[in-house]
Amino acid sequence: MPDIRYAKLRAKDPERADPAMPIMRSSRTTLRRLLFPLVVVTLLVLFILAPADLGRRISDLKGPATPKPSSPEPNNAATPAVKNAAADSGKAAVFVEARPLQNMVPVILYFAGILGPTWPIHVYHSDENLGLLNSSAAILQHVERGSIVLHALPTTVHKFNSHDAVSEFLTDPWIWRSLGPAVTHALLFQADSIICGASPLRPENFFEFSFIGAPIAPQYGRGYNGGLSLRHVPTILRTIETFKWAETRMFEDQWFATYIPKLVNPSAPPLPTVEQSKYFSVETIWADKPMGYHQAKRWNSARMSEILEWCPELTLTEAGTLYPK
Ligand SMILES: *[C@@H]1O[C@H](CO)[C@@H](O)[C@H](O)[C@H]1NC(C)=O
Repeated sequence: MPDIRYAKLRAKDPERADPAMPIMRSSRTTLRRLLFPLVVVTLLVLFILAPADLGRRISDLKGPATPKPSSPEPNNAATPAVKNAAADSGKAAVFVEARPLQNMVPVILYFAGILGPTWPIHVYHSDENLGLLNSSAAILQHVERGSIVLHALPTTVHKFNSHDAVSEFLTDPWIWRSLGPAVTHALLFQADSIICGASPLRPENFFEFSFIGAPIAPQYGRGYNGGLSLRHVPTILRTIETFKWAETRMFEDQWFATYIPKLVNPSAPPLPTVEQSKYFSVETIWADKPMGYHQAKRWNSARMSEILEWCPELTLTEAGTLYPK
């Protein structure tokens, strides 16, 4: 493309030649005669090359055919301009989904709007749901700007057919390394989670913690739900490298909440209290007007009118959950 633009500029140059120089006159006439075919050729080249280029960019979206877990993936899809703005932020949003959920495109676009340009959204997709993404003009526009980055899920994890498979994937360093070395904070969201536009809180208000999500009521487990969660990436990687998830096969979010406090020299940034985390997100423990929700209807069906008054965007989430039912 830059070559073509350069050719067009050059085609215009003769018009700028100094008309006071008679010696230029005859060559200007010759150039005029040449100009018409030159413009026609330029236009032809544009029409032939531009669709080819578009095709190439869309095929780039497919990502590597079979990336291997545990190896860092270079992030090729972002354009240089946005890469700079977004890469410097140290922030990344993460969306992992293998199923073709009808609400995933609207949820991703909504998060892109609410998080803004300093949070590029890394979408990990399967072959099965790539079609939803690559046929959305709105998604492709973000991809072109670098504000959404598409990653093909490793073929080994294309079927998230159990909690165990999801937990195994999120406790492997591959996904966290694929965000790039500059990312310190990752916001993981699923198609059944939302951040409320009316909230004065932002994820940045919770950066002091190692891991935060909706607190899990004691009868259901411990720690914080990972479905809408903010993670300090260096701590996540250090936990994965220090302890072996495979020896416990716990839910990944509860595993991190259990093992992060065991990190020593240096110890990790703190985990939040229930009082702090329930304003980040509500799931099984209630709070008034939290920043976000995860599976709000499943756990708070009696309070839906109150929730929807505060957070009408929640209706976007009705079709999605990462884990099989
Ligand atoms: C879009 O995704 C579908 C898979 O659903 C794939 O077959 C197709 O090749 C993709 N198109 C492009 C242009 O990447």
